[in-house]
Amino acid sequence: MELILHKVCGHPAQQAVTLRRCTPDEAPAVYALQNEVHAAMPHPEWFVTDTLEHITGYIADSLCIGVWQGSRLGAYLTFYYCGQSPHNYAAFLGVPQAEWPHWANADSAVVHPDWRGNGLQRRMLEAALPLLPESITHLGATVSPANPYSLSNALACGFTIRARREMYGGFDRYLLAKEL
Ligand SMILES: CC(C)(COP(=O)(O)OP(=O)(O)OC[C@H]1O[C@@H](n2cnc3c(N)ncnc32)[C@H](O)[C@@H]1OP(=O)(O)O)[C@@H](O)C(=O)NCCC(=O)NCCS
Repeated sequence: MELILHKVCGHPAQQAVTLRRCTPDEAPAVYALQNEVHAAMPHPEWFVTDTLEHITGYIADSLCIGVWQGSRLGAYLTFYYCGQSPHNYAAFLGVPQAEWPHWANADSAVVHPDWRGNGLQRRMLEAALPLLPESITHLGATVSPANPYSLSNALACGFTIRARREMYGGFDRYLLAKEL
């Protein structure tokens, strides 16, 4: 899907980009963008990073939507179809284990600072929804209560806050869910 960025580096612009599913050979680009963005965050605790191995797995076995300008990746959103894994956010929401395969984790949303302000987190989620397996009926997500950007996007996309607890070894997080 083609999109126009109306803001680049905080200034008005008209730049075409492509929003599409990433392929496993693109995992290093996703990992590199993650690390670049995380290293520049004033509050790195808002975002817990993934290993290259996990990112490769999400792309190969679940879903990763990326926003590209030629060979440059500027944004991505990962999903994890985690089934009966204890990493399934459904497990933290008291959902009966038999239903976990119908839940997917909406995992990480990352937009390079140059491209922020184009609603890309929301656009990537909208683009992902038709690509999710039919068996997935709910999405789970975690957001730092202190991260207004990610939280407002999640709420605007129809997620609701269901719980608040420590996750990922000690980080304060809202657990959110969205029924599809
Ligand atoms: C969360 C994130 C993906 C949102 O990016 P986005 O989709 O481009 O955000 P929006 O288009 O909704 O931005 C809305 C406004 O907030 C601003 N904004 C967005 N993220 C910002 C940030 N991290 N810091 C400062 N301002 C930010 C935008 O510039 C825009 O401002 P404007 O209205 O003046 O144009 C992005 O902030 C990000 O990559 N953060 C780092 C990783 C992270 O925390 N991910 C979430 C947890 S997985």
